[in-house]
Amino acid sequence: MDVISMSDFDETGIYSVLDAVDQVRKALHDHEYNRNVFQKKHNRPVEKLLEGILEATLFVENSTRTNFSSRVAAMRTGAMVDGFSSIENTSLTKGETWADTAAMFACYGFDVLVMRSTTEGLPRWTKEFVSNTNQQLKEQYSKAGIPFNYRNPMIINGGDGRHQHPTQCFLDLRTMLDIGNIQNIPLRGLPIALLNDIANSRVHSSIISVAPTLGLELHFAAPGRFGPRESQLEYLKAKGATFYNHGDDWEKAMRSSTIAIHSRPQKERVGKGEDLRTIKEWGCMTAERFQKLANQVPYLLHPRPVDSALFEEIHYSLRFHDADWSLFQASNGPYTRMALPAIGLDRMSIDYDFSTKKNTSLELSYLQLNVNNNSHAKAGLRSGHIEGDGIVIDHITAGRGRRLAGVLGFERENVPKTIADYLPVRDSTKDLIKLHCAYELSSEQEEAISLISPNSTINIIKSGRVVQKYRPIIGGRIVNRIDCSNDYCVTNIKEEHVTPQQKVIANGENTILECHYCGTTDTTSKIFQEERFRYIGKD
Ligand code: CP
Repeated sequence: MDVISMSDFDETGIYSVLDAVDQVRKALHDHEYNRNVFQKKHNRPVEKLLEGILEATLFVENSTRTNFSSRVAAMRTGAMVDGFSSIENTSLTKGETWADTAAMFACYGFDVLVMRSTTEGLPRWTKEFVSNTNQQLKEQYSKAGIPFNYRNPMIINGGDGRHQHPTQCFLDLRTMLDIGNIQNIPLRGLPIALLNDIANSRVHSSIISVAPTLGLELHFAAPGRFGPRESQLEYLKAKGATFYNHGDDWEKAMRSSTIAIHSRPQKERVGKGEDLRTIKEWGCMTAERFQKLANQVPYLLHPRPVDSALFEEIHYSLRFHDADWSLFQASNGPYTRMALPAIGLDRMSIDYDFSTKKNTSLELSYLQLNVNNNSHAKAGLRSGHIEGDGIVIDHITAGRGRRLAGVLGFERENVPKTIADYLPVRDSTKDLIKLHCAYELSSEQEEAISLISPNSTINIIKSGRVVQKYRPIIGGRIVNRIDCSNDYCVTNIKEEHVTPQQKVIANGENTILECHYCGTTDTTSKIFQEERFRYIGKD
């Protein structure tokens, strides 16, 4: 098991982790429980949970909690820990790629890499790269006749840009469960307010990604452009989640919620010209505001740090306020960061197999359509008078035929063809592409057709007759076909050379895709408008 994105975990897996965190927490605070229950269940006391394990903390963004709670978690459970806290003093400053840097730690036998980066999707790429590194080393040692027993290191994402902060999310969920237990309310249906800089916070982004899985009810409130990103709303809609966007009405969001998660304006990620003053005034939670809520004060969480220098998003007048549970929340950090590597390295006996979640590959299915040969007395007539062999791609969304032909590579191929656009059909219009020669479409081309124009039909013509008519339907994962729209995605970092990949999360006229690395959602209409489909066969 790796801890890369909350979207990799299902509900049972999440509750298994939260239960493990609770067991670790109890064992650390209750010696009897540690000796009599924990040790019996997991074959070792908590202080030896990670004995003999080598953990590296690779941080290129500043951190107090994630870095040092990971380190203390390692030290208190018998692991050895080392790493770096910035790129200074590493060879990243000499132009080495992140992948090559991480590969070195795999090559030196580290069991766990905890990493923080500004590049979104980098942890998943790191996993893929170090797995390949490990495999290559294994093979080379074998060829050299030398034993090799380093493991493929577990990757723990300690935050990648605005994308994910899964260890924080697990400790947040643990805290919510603890509060839910006080209130006797379950996580499913729990109303949670996400406040302040929703657009740029990886903490909020992680909660958003897990909300449909756990059935959390989200209430957003933020000033102007700091509200949820379009892609986040698209994702929640596609997953059927319950959410309410209250605009800048913080009071309504808080009154609707049991737990409010406030956040720091991410000034390091906010571009020039953003209205920092607005968010400074809007986001400052004061005792006065809490008084206004009277008896409807939700439990207040904050991942911390609180920016007391510039934004003061939790005003000092709320210091040690009853409602502020953010310190308790932070104290769940080390327990969470002990349990996660222990589960990943099979040091805890958990009744759940984390490896069962399917890794989707491309699934192209075909809807076979009826060929009515009577109406094609001269076969292919309705499809446009192809006398011999050929293909007609029919019912193409009007206005997309010419670019589709380009993406499919037909523009560069010397195949005889006709492209017709805006043909009238009943009360609408369509485009059409005809290839006037024997031609076999590749699955890559069928994939592109189903993405760009999902209602298209493909007619295979032999000796002037339509012999097959079908519609390809995209599913699974799409590889190397679409550039990710997120400039901060690892696939857009030239020197890392990462092949873009997307997963289909909702099928239809406007298919919704999710980047395999950075999780950004996209719609096929937007991809078409922004000309981000890669051309087939183009170098
Ligand atoms: N909550 C959190 O991630 O804090 P740090 O940035 O200090 O790690």
